Amino acid sequence: MKYIQIGNVRIEKTAALAPMASVADKAYRTMAKGFGAAYCVGEMASCKGLVYSDRKTAELLSVSEFERPMGVQLFGAEPEFMEKAVKIAERYSPDIIDINAGCPMPKIVCGGAGSALMKTPKIFGELVRAAVEATGIPVTVKIRAGWDENSKNAVEMAKIAEENGAAAVAVHGRTKEQLYAGNADWNIIKAVKQSVSVPVIGNGDVKSVEDCVRMYEYTGCDLVMIGRGSYGRPWLFGQIRDYFSGKTPRFEPDLDEKLNIMRRHIALLVEDKGERTGMKEARRQAAWYIKGIEGAAALRNRFGSLNTLADLDELISEISGNAN
Ligand SMILES: Cc1cc2nc3c(=O)[nH]c(=O)nc-3n(C[C@H](O)[C@H](O)[C@H](O)COP(=O)(O)O)c2cc1C
Repeated sequence: MKYIQIGNVRIEKTAALAPMASVADKAYRTMAKGFGAAYCVGEMASCKGLVYSDRKTAELLSVSEFERPMGVQLFGAEPEFMEKAVKIAERYSPDIIDINAGCPMPKIVCGGAGSALMKTPKIFGELVRAAVEATGIPVTVKIRAGWDENSKNAVEMAKIAEENGAAAVAVHGRTKEQLYAGNADWNIIKAVKQSVSVPVIGNGDVKSVEDCVRMYEYTGCDLVMIGRGSYGRPWLFGQIRDYFSGKTPRFEPDLDEKLNIMRRHIALLVEDKGERTGMKEARRQAAWYIKGIEGAAALRNRFGSLNTLADLDELISEISGNAN
């Protein structure tokens, strides 16, 4: 097994779980980690929310021992708030503090944060510097390819991050204008890798062991990060880890195994958020787990009306009884 080093943090060179607000929560990360994700990043948290003591924002920073090495992610546009937010984040003892410079959501971009920073490289540099000077924890950044096709400045942004003390740069190879559509440009990830000496994390469109291997080979990146490709498939991290441990990647689970894994995931969700919220959020996660299985469309409706874990168990035994 190979490792990479981000500051003082050693990470297996397999695949990391990308930060995904309202998707990759603690339950999701725990599943990914349990199957072998090398590194996880929490859901983005607002610097201002933290500074103004918003409890819900602060909850996004919680790090369990099981999830380590784990990063927490901050978004903001003012260096003073970044500095204070980093000090608050430190209390949760994350292994890494990551700055979001990629989120395209209007409410984030309007405040000058997330991918808006791709248009304000100077402020971006100041944010990185403010964070780095506020803490001894390694600070990393997550950027996009650029704002739009005509302004792909990921290389410039990565250099600025490095000059200001960032310990690694993650690059999602899409522009802000692309949102999540079209293909990620792996050439830009390669160009960033060739321009900085800190580790580069490649991200965008990795959905299989083969994609992961291709991204390493094509871009030369130090670590591959997976977002949507892991929806309802935490075992993907196990398959990738098998491959890089010199083993044959484990098979895709059969229906009963998938249902078991989904049950574990939903139980964690309920444990973390309570049955009411947990089961509501479980509906979307469940739809991802059953994607592609026979009768998935009808099942999605049934999953859509689940309210309790007991309902879930009933549905699972029905599905698995019908299939056997
Ligand atoms: C639902 C969703 C939420 C996301 N939330 C965040 C976030 O909080 N912070 C961040 O840096 N990126 C966020 N992203 C972007 C992902 O981390 C990743 O860069 C993007 O999905 C591309 O990778 P993929 O093709 O493997 O999905 C989010 C993406 C999705 C789909």
